[in-house]
Amino acid sequence: MTELRILLATPHAGYEQRVRQAFGATLNGDLRRWDVAHGEVTPDGLLQQLANSSPDVVAIGPDLETDDALALARELEQTRPEISVLLVSEPTPELWQHALRAGVRDVVAPDAVDADLRTAFERTMEVAARRRHNLVGDTDGPGSAGRIISVLSPKGGSGKTTVSSNLAVGLAMAEPNQVAIVDLDLQFGDVAASLGLSPQHTLVDAVRAPGELDGMALKSFLSSHHSDLWALCGPESPAEGEDVTADQAKQVVEKLADEFRYVVVDTGAGLDEHTLSAVEASTDLVLVCAMDVTSVRSLRKEIAALDQLGMTHQRRHLVINRADSKVGLDLRDVEASIDMPVDVAVSSSRAVPLSLNQGLPVIASETRSQVARQFAQLVERFAEQPAAVPGARRRKWGQR
Ligand SMILES: Nc1ncnc2c1ncn2[C@@H]1O[C@H](COP(=O)(O)OP(=O)(O)O)[C@@H](O)[C@H]1O
Ligand SMILES: [Mg+2]
Repeated sequence: MTELRILLATPHAGYEQRVRQAFGATLNGDLRRWDVAHGEVTPDGLLQQLANSSPDVVAIGPDLETDDALALARELEQTRPEISVLLVSEPTPELWQHALRAGVRDVVAPDAVDADLRTAFERTMEVAARRRHNLVGDTDGPGSAGRIISVLSPKGGSGKTTVSSNLAVGLAMAEPNQVAIVDLDLQFGDVAASLGLSPQHTLVDAVRAPGELDGMALKSFLSSHHSDLWALCGPESPAEGEDVTADQAKQVVEKLADEFRYVVVDTGAGLDEHTLSAVEASTDLVLVCAMDVTSVRSLRKEIAALDQLGMTHQRRHLVINRADSKVGLDLRDVEASIDMPVDVAVSSSRAVPLSLNQGLPVIASETRSQVARQFAQLVERFAEQPAAVPGARRRKWGQR
């Protein structure tokens, strides 16, 4: 692989040395520092730097005002979307939100230990390398690595498939043919059923195909849903699912992200190795939980497990399903117990199972219903990110 060019935009004179030290001898990149000062964070100042160093990765900070750092990230996102941006700043949840909106790929603390700092750089470099590959090798693709959104829950029956299929269809309504859904519930996956698809090919065919997995070849194993969504359906039997390794699952998800702006991953209950490898590749996690005490407790344990495994760089979104169930808990109890805000509460509705008969999730079949609007709120958390396609029109959610 050719060397990537990395620009450190920071007034901190020692930071270049700090990054070199974190990498030791393993740095496969050309590192430079732009001694950016307050007041220089202007489009002109940036353009000049980019012209001088034409970087693949820009690390912003440390020691920059947050507003300046975010302004720089936004400017890069708008003018040079092919550059991957890493923010070096204390990663509070609030900053994460702003950072993601500004197109930042990852946030790392200024005083992170070597391993964490290196991982953050490596991840950002990986995305840059993929983007460059796309730009050079395939002009049909979106030209940037898409967001990978894994939908998780410790329990079966909590609504993972319902949430992932509504999310995927909702995103596809906003960005037709830019969304793929993958069924990684290898035992009892039912994405195909929930979308009314009778797939000709499944994930198993995709990984059994001879030769290296590549994004273009993968496309031939997808099923097309009439909402302009593409689906890589799950195996027909649990036994077949055993042919898919966790590594292959991760590769499939990553390769699809080279071709699609969004990849939604439906998973089986809990954190099996396939789910974990999808989580590793993910930019976002949607955690689905029901309103009862055991579900909340299980989710708390799952979150603790993710933390312990170091899976903390993905943006987490909490969805409470059947949130109107009267079981003695309210949303505030759930938030207190899980220690994170509820992002979307979805009501119980007969329209959800009924929509299965139509093969069209409620978000598209019952657009005026309350549940459809609630799912639309979830979609908006992703679709509100600046659309990468200039002039792409976005429908108003909840309306036809
Ligand atoms: N908000 C809801 N209202 C009514 N039924 C729901 C709702 N969410 C899920 N269901 C139903 O519950 C069952 C399990 O949901 P599913 O999404 O398949 O869960 P999982 O994928 O987590 O096993 C399905 O029959 C689904 O239609
Ligand atoms: Mg399911």
